[in-house]
Amino acid sequence: MNLPIRPRRNRRTPAIRSLVRETNLSAADFILPLFLHEDAENTPIASMPGCIRWSLDGLVKEAGEAHAAGVPAVVLFPKIEEDLKTSDGAECFNDDGLVPRAIRALKKAYPTLCVITDVALDPYNSDGHDGIVRRGSDGSLHILNDETVGVLCKQAVCHAKAGADIVSPSDMMDGRVSAIRSALDAEGFSGVSIMSYTAKYASAFYGPFRGALDSAPKEGDKKTYQMDPANHREAVREAIIDEQEGADILMVKPAGPYLDIISKVRDTTTLPVAAYQVSGEYLMIKSACAAGWLDEKNVALESLMGIKRAGADMILTYFAKQAALWLAGK
Ligand code: PBG
Repeated sequence: MNLPIRPRRNRRTPAIRSLVRETNLSAADFILPLFLHEDAENTPIASMPGCIRWSLDGLVKEAGEAHAAGVPAVVLFPKIEEDLKTSDGAECFNDDGLVPRAIRALKKAYPTLCVITDVALDPYNSDGHDGIVRRGSDGSLHILNDETVGVLCKQAVCHAKAGADIVSPSDMMDGRVSAIRSALDAEGFSGVSIMSYTAKYASAFYGPFRGALDSAPKEGDKKTYQMDPANHREAVREAIIDEQEGADILMVKPAGPYLDIISKVRDTTTLPVAAYQVSGEYLMIKSACAAGWLDEKNVALESLMGIKRAGADMILTYFAKQAALWLAGK
């Protein structure tokens, strides 16, 4: 054939392929979500094989191992004891609560580790919703926006006081980024960042996570605050609003089934974009690999590369520590 243009020339050797590679995945991109509880035991999570609900000591050890492997950040998800859950979720701003104690222990053990916290009421709320619930006279459920935002501000300040580097509101209430920014600044925490769950969809892929924390809504669903999976312009709208409200990092969640949203948000903002590869995405890969149907290392790394290529600067993933080790050839 007379073919002057042959794209395969750029794929000919590993050296050439490395020169033309457009996206690089590195341990420095990863944020490791960690589950913790009040027990002294480390308990494997049945709904998320390979994940553990850590004791405080276990959490510190695991975070240290991930950090040593090159992972710069962790994000904390607590399982709160049933008798501490209330309809107003007030335990979420207890300075001696599980999360503030964990933040202090992590920052003491690893001052260079970036500690991120989830700001939302669902682990603390006896109704299992991300906001305060009020029941209408007809029995219908209403998730109260403004009242919830007031509590989120107290939660964010509590985490900042304990030493959190980044607080991450995950509930999709309106106006929470600007309210949290003002609350942090008023208390002297202008250096604490906000990573906003900007486009968080009402996704069935969160199922295993809710099992891990016993945090499923007792009644109803999250569709009045989390986004409709059918929508993409709405994600752009949320991104514009969060940027105006002062967010430092915008997040899209889930990641794999929402690569178009990651790409759109990337094109909408100059802010860093994060994507959350959620529990259901993790479980699909883990279970297919456990059955011997897919190769775990290659599939997990490809899924993360796809998320990075779509436009994510950083990825929250349960594979973080393992993927960091894989990338280092371990
Ligand atoms: C709730 C929260 C959820 C996740 C992170 N924060 C679940 C939900 O919205 O019900 C899901 C994470 C995952 O599935 O891995 N604040």
